[in-house]
Amino acid sequence: MIPGRLVTIAIFVLGDSVYDPGNNDYLDIGIDGKANFPPYGETFFCFPTGRFCDGRQIPDFAGYPLKMYLAMYANLPIWEVIISPMELALQLNIRIQLGYLKEVANLLKEELGDTEAKNILENAIYLSSFGGVDYMAFINNTYIDFTQSKMEEYVKMVLGNLTEVTKEIDEMGGRKFAFQNVGPLGCQPELKQQYNLSDKACVEELQTIASQHNNALSNVTRELESQLSGFNYLSFDFFNALNDMTSHLEKYGFKVSDIASCGTGSRRGSDCGRSGESNVTWPLNMKQLYELESSADHEYVSDDGALFKDE
Ligand SMILES: *[C@@H]1O[C@H](CO)[C@@H](O)[C@H](O)[C@H]1NC(C)=O
Ligand SMILES: *[C@@H]1O[C@H](CO)[C@@H](O)[C@H](O)[C@H]1NC(C)=O
Ligand SMILES: *[C@@H]1O[C@H](CO)[C@@H](O)[C@H](O)[C@H]1NC(C)=O
Ligand SMILES: *[C@@H]1O[C@H](CO)[C@@H](O)[C@H](O)[C@H]1NC(C)=O
Ligand SMILES: *[C@@H]1O[C@H](CO)[C@@H](O)[C@H](O)[C@H]1NC(C)=O
Repeated sequence: MIPGRLVTIAIFVLGDSVYDPGNNDYLDIGIDGKANFPPYGETFFCFPTGRFCDGRQIPDFAGYPLKMYLAMYANLPIWEVIISPMELALQLNIRIQLGYLKEVANLLKEELGDTEAKNILENAIYLSSFGGVDYMAFINNTYIDFTQSKMEEYVKMVLGNLTEVTKEIDEMGGRKFAFQNVGPLGCQPELKQQYNLSDKACVEELQTIASQHNNALSNVTRELESQLSGFNYLSFDFFNALNDMTSHLEKYGFKVSDIASCGTGSRRGSDCGRSGESNVTWPLNMKQLYELESSADHEYVSDDGALFKDE
């Protein structure tokens, strides 16, 4: 790639677990909401980073051109903003994330002055992925009495928030947006297992609400474009991109798409990295053995490293 003129020197990422590089580590939530143990991270970072995957996420890749530019133009200002883990709220919802973004904007103004800060904010890319977790929670809570009108109302609420937040970012000076839509949620091994579905089947209600969201999102971006002057955007059709991968596995070098790569259950859909089959290792599994604090009060290694036995 021959680089053109560098304009964007910051990418601000907002989203749910699909984009989370590890904020969940700092949240006071159960192990189901965490990814800070193996095998998460094993193929790229070689340690768990808190990303819910074995390697990198889309924002990691989206940031590469910027990293390349930064390496080429070494005199660019580079700053980092670190929000103290103590400040992280229980639920990092879209509003709270917007609040953090505003803090960052204020810091930029303090450090670089209004003109430079405005320049950075106007040329930054605001990359977001919202909705998946909301819809999974929605289906879980309304599966029994799921109705078309409840679904439409819920989608409206999710996109209402996304619209409001986008407008506020526009007011802050944001002009370049990248929106990822919601993936084929109902086809995830975890969900297929939970609803006891056969190989080709997916949770219909989840597929329907995901499509509903994605169609409505296209409308939302068109409306924003007509309402906000200077609004530029791209939409990433994650739903169809992922569907294409799972329905043409060989083309992408995969063999299986309806069974998770780790975990237990019919589709290895739960407890990834957490259990060893008790019919294979017993009475403890490897993890338990690693974590076992021996209760004996003798020591096997002295301060100078020499081995000794207690009497
Ligand atoms: C869905 O609900 C069940 C209980 O009804 C609960 O065990 C499970 O954790 C819930 N899953 C999600 C993703 O909220
Ligand atoms: C945003 O979401 C909240 C629930 O978290 C909801 O009460 C509110 O109506 C939504 N806003 C819009 C504009 O839809
Ligand atoms: C899952 O479905 C199969 C048949 O499709 C059935 O034999 C099995 O009992 C079901 N399991 C649960 C937990 O519903
Ligand atoms: C999107 O807009 C079109 C017309 O512009 C409308 O017919 C359709 O119902 C809208 N879809 C959603 C999901 O809001
Ligand atoms: C252990 O149990 C799992 C199911 O929980 C089964 O799939 C597996 O074949 C069993 N392993 C052996 C060695 O029996």
